Amino acid sequence: MDSIVVTGGAELSGQIPIAGAKNACLTLMPATLLSEEPLTLTNAPRLSDIATMTALLRSLGAEVTGLQEGRVLSMSSHALDNHVADYDIVRKMRASILVLGPLLARDGHAIVSLPGGCAIGARPVDLHLTALEALGAELDLRDGYVHAKAPGGLKGGRVTFSKVSVGATENVLMAATLARGTTVIENAAREPEIADLARCLRRMGAQIDGEGTGTITVEGVERLSGATHPVVPDRIELGTYMLAPAICGGSVECLGGRIELIAAFCERLEAAGISVEETERGLRVSRGNGRARAVDVTTEPFPGFPTDLQAQMMALLCTAEGTSTLHETIFENRFMHAPELIRMGARIEVSGGTAVVHGVERLKGAPVMATDLRASVSLILAGLAAEGDTVVNRVYHLDRGYEQVEDKLGAVGARVERITER
Ligand code: UD1
Repeated sequence: MDSIVVTGGAELSGQIPIAGAKNACLTLMPATLLSEEPLTLTNAPRLSDIATMTALLRSLGAEVTGLQEGRVLSMSSHALDNHVADYDIVRKMRASILVLGPLLARDGHAIVSLPGGCAIGARPVDLHLTALEALGAELDLRDGYVHAKAPGGLKGGRVTFSKVSVGATENVLMAATLARGTTVIENAAREPEIADLARCLRRMGAQIDGEGTGTITVEGVERLSGATHPVVPDRIELGTYMLAPAICGGSVECLGGRIELIAAFCERLEAAGISVEETERGLRVSRGNGRARAVDVTTEPFPGFPTDLQAQMMALLCTAEGTSTLHETIFENRFMHAPELIRMGARIEVSGGTAVVHGVERLKGAPVMATDLRASVSLILAGLAAEGDTVVNRVYHLDRGYEQVEDKLGAVGARVERITER
């Protein structure tokens, strides 16, 4: 298994291009199932999660080409011949559940494996299922699978989420595009990836209003056509790379970054004494001499501070001046990076959903273990500022969500090397 060796101490300077959003791409890809005509995504990221979704769509009979050659993914679902999403693929990636809504909407039946637990908490799919039931789906949970039917086709309905869920909003939004009549989704998630999905579906002929607000209205149409759509920039990759110069000093321009994708995060970064500036091509982050200041952070659904940047922000706060408190409100059990950071000399106390970080002057390199995607990258960030070498083991998580992390950080002066085990 590959590991990454980070040698701390370099000041960073230069530019880092931000890729298309993994999480947007993972919901845009299943949208191909809604139409018999081709859907083409440009600015797609090259990540193992995208390869997993490709395998899932192919297993259903869709044609997917292009990812190896570049950033354009071409998909066609003109002849689906399988409506079963198998456990072997779904267990690798929770986002697989996003094929359920589109399959049901298009053909009135689907069997999708339940994703099961994962490293950052229980992560159930009840909200996905009750939302689809509100559109007339009949669901039966048997043998670890959701057996779903909509014999006369889905019908528009009112969906009121008891809790904000990105994936459940995406699933029901896709399903509603082909349902008969009007669907109103209340307490919908407002993440930029949902707005991006709505833009793509509209290009395919869907009638959608209100994305980016808590209430989305969808007027079902008979059929959807093909489209070409550029994937929105990855705000989590953006925030991650913005933290690199914040942690080890210097100045980096993140190309393609936009404030509106990440405003709450930028506000906390500035409160910590880091400068964030909009440029013509993106966002420039600089830290002069001196340490960052401690800040408190609470993760929330968009437009709040993203849970997917909590681990990376903690890496910054480990060496900030003063004591910071991080409240994780989205996922239970999402502080698995804390014990690893402690191995590097950080002073962190975790209790339930709260972590208190007492900033220390400097971290020290150590062998550490990556436990999930965002935790992995937080350890790399921490290593950038640590004295000596940090060896991050089990980095396969990283490749699910960050393309060429060592090249991107290396290009701005960081010393990051991948050791490939044969
Ligand atoms: C998506 C993102 C993930 C991000 C998360 C929150 C993708 C592929 N993944 O995950 O990176 O961390 O949003 O921003 O886009 N919940 C339920 N029942 C459900 C569904 C969710 O209780 O049926 C709970 C979850 O356990 C969690 C909360 O709702 O506590 C939010 O989860 P959700 O927004 O659904 O996350 P995902 O869509 O899985």
